[in-house]
Amino acid sequence: MAEHGVNPGSQAWTKKHLLGLEDLEGWEIEKILDVAGEMMPFSRPGAPKKPDLAGKLVVNLFYEASTRTRVSFGQAARRLGADVIDFAASGSSLSKGESFIDTARNIEALGMDLAVVRHSVPGTPHLLTHHLNAGIVNAGDGAHEHPTQALLDIFTVRNRLGKIKGLTVGLVGDIAHSRVARSNIQGFKKLGARVIVCGPPTLIPRQVAELGVEVSYSLDEVIGELDVVNVLRIQFERQTGGLFPSIREYFRLFGMTKERLRKSRPNLLLLAPGPINRGVELTPEVADGPHSTILDQVRNGLGVRMAVLSLLAGIGS
Ligand code: NCD
Repeated sequence: MAEHGVNPGSQAWTKKHLLGLEDLEGWEIEKILDVAGEMMPFSRPGAPKKPDLAGKLVVNLFYEASTRTRVSFGQAARRLGADVIDFAASGSSLSKGESFIDTARNIEALGMDLAVVRHSVPGTPHLLTHHLNAGIVNAGDGAHEHPTQALLDIFTVRNRLGKIKGLTVGLVGDIAHSRVARSNIQGFKKLGARVIVCGPPTLIPRQVAELGVEVSYSLDEVIGELDVVNVLRIQFERQTGGLFPSIREYFRLFGMTKERLRKSRPNLLLLAPGPINRGVELTPEVADGPHSTILDQVRNGLGVRMAVLSLLAGIGS
């Protein structure tokens, strides 16, 4: 396993794949966050590299659109000294009828050590673990999980507020279709936060309470209780339509505006995974304002993904 300057916790990392935060224990999440903190100084261009992945090949296998996650994983792997292949489904032999598994096995034949996988079908990364020897990182599987997004969200909050335990975290928006929500719930709950999910009733699945979260249909009622609000995008591409009256109505009830922020705690942290839709989930002045951690999250994502790749590669294939 890769050596890290400081020993972040006494327990050793044993997992070869990162499929979801539902599979991790609290100490494993904290270990990733601790290693991410050590990785941050190595994450910027021009800084010395941290060659934990020298001689390894990391492949981004992306079957769904991505901006931040794909470039972040690519850059994280390069900062660790790995070779990187960026595979995008569009333009590939998928259009000639090649199956997903065959495609992945052919790419693995190039010497792939780690595959970073995004797919619209939940469980795709899990499926790959049965067909490949490479370590698998879930970079978003349908509406199921997006573990590194939640890890970078939690890392950002822990950096700013010094802790997670005892905080009240609000997840606002399209809970039903959001993999970021599902991973956030797992991660924040496991580290001892109180989680409130908030949105229109049609965008909150009934079973969500079984995950130990509170449910609110009124942002104005809960905004004053929150230490953190994570503003989630309406996932139009995953909806079959007609789940709320109009975008204007949604914005009126759940949009983060300067007026709404006046009811919040003065040091509220406002997170958003991106892409953001200015004027739908939040106003431009809130997105670019003092509560917003949006670009900080992107920067922290590099350290978090370096930590994940390094820990998984340390287990080997
Ligand atoms: C999220 C995703 O793809 O799940 N974006 C991201 O990875 N930063 C959220 C979204 O698409 O709304």
